[in-house]
Amino acid sequence: MKICVLPGDGIGPEIVAQGLRVLDAVGEKFGRTFETTEALIGGAAIDAAGEPLPAETVAKCKDADAVLLGAVGGPKWDTIDPAIRPEKGLLGIRKALGLFANLRPAKLFPQLADACYLRPDIVARGLDVMVVRELTGGIYFGEPRFDGEKDGERFGYNTMTYYEHEIRRIAKLAFEAARKRSGRVCSVDKANVLDVSRVWREIVIDEHKNYADVELEHLYVDNAAMQLVRDPSQFDVIVTGNLFGDILSDEAAAITGSIGMLPSASLGAENPGLYEPIHGSAPDIAGQDKANPLATILSVSMMLRHAFDMAEEADCMEQAVEKTLEQGYRTGDIWQEGGKSVGCTAMADAVLANL
Ligand code: NAD
Ligand code: IPM
Ligand code: MN
Repeated sequence: MKICVLPGDGIGPEIVAQGLRVLDAVGEKFGRTFETTEALIGGAAIDAAGEPLPAETVAKCKDADAVLLGAVGGPKWDTIDPAIRPEKGLLGIRKALGLFANLRPAKLFPQLADACYLRPDIVARGLDVMVVRELTGGIYFGEPRFDGEKDGERFGYNTMTYYEHEIRRIAKLAFEAARKRSGRVCSVDKANVLDVSRVWREIVIDEHKNYADVELEHLYVDNAAMQLVRDPSQFDVIVTGNLFGDILSDEAAAITGSIGMLPSASLGAENPGLYEPIHGSAPDIAGQDKANPLATILSVSMMLRHAFDMAEEADCMEQAVEKTLEQGYRTGDIWQEGGKSVGCTAMADAVLANL
């Protein structure tokens, strides 16, 4: 089992190091050996090799059975040529590996109910949403795009595009996911305004004909954003395009207590999957051992489950995380009065002790 590790920038190397410690310990406990190799991405790759996604990184990822990523980006690279920004490295590896589906499970651990920003009676109804975000299309990749001048002033645009086949495969994946959960899919679009969204909705409805046992509803994205804070318990699987999924998943993360809690799996048809927390490089706390490593540890657990079919190992990791929260360990982002204040390393220490 070969894992290609892409630490990246900011808190990336800190959280990935903790994720790997927990992985090693799980391996030892269950008699599994994981072979890891590291590669450059993002700002770290720009600094070392002049580009955010060196060809060697893509080759190493393709050669692995799974990829574990920290985060990319930071103020140091905010003013460089946009063509080689760190974020291009992440978008590039998703595209190069054909990772069209990003699964972002937002689950509220009962131990963190008090860390949730919503009213207790709303929290009591629970939150367990799977955001299925389309990841290699939409406005992120659409052509044409432009950043320049027109009519004597600055001018720019991007294009939101979706082909039927891109919509169909993500819809299919969402319906399949719903079958293993509560059997409900909510497709989020802006079909009252955008042509591309009307195509989205039409194809989702058509693909649904193959999944009559799954309940399908549609929401406009503005309403969906509102419903997510009004009553998140109404959602099971949310399927949506690249940009809407990016935004709604950060919103869902906040409802679980912190963005530092949410893992993700980016999956395609042929290449290994990429496992990463949904948050960024958190430049404001980087290098201070303050970051919450749980999103990364839970991403490792998603990797064990999806890439290696190791359900028992994954369950063990998740139970250790729950026990750690139960014991009151809290990083700054999920801080609660009366908790045990810990940093990144000490949080992982607690998880290790609970394995
Ligand atoms: P961010 O997610 O990095 O940070 C937002 C806020 O959440 C910050 O206050 C940060 O301290 C906090 N936070 C994030 N992760 C945390 C964790 N694990 N523990 C505790 N607190 C945490 O988003 P941003 O500030 O908008 O972006 C910073 C940089 O990260 C940018 O360069 C952006 O492009 C990049 N980014 C990368 C990814 C990725 O690599 N997947 C995702 C989002 C943003
Ligand atoms: C994420 C990030 C990325 C995205 C950026 C850094 C390219 O926000 O993984 O959610 O927008 O997909
Ligand atoms: Mn994001």
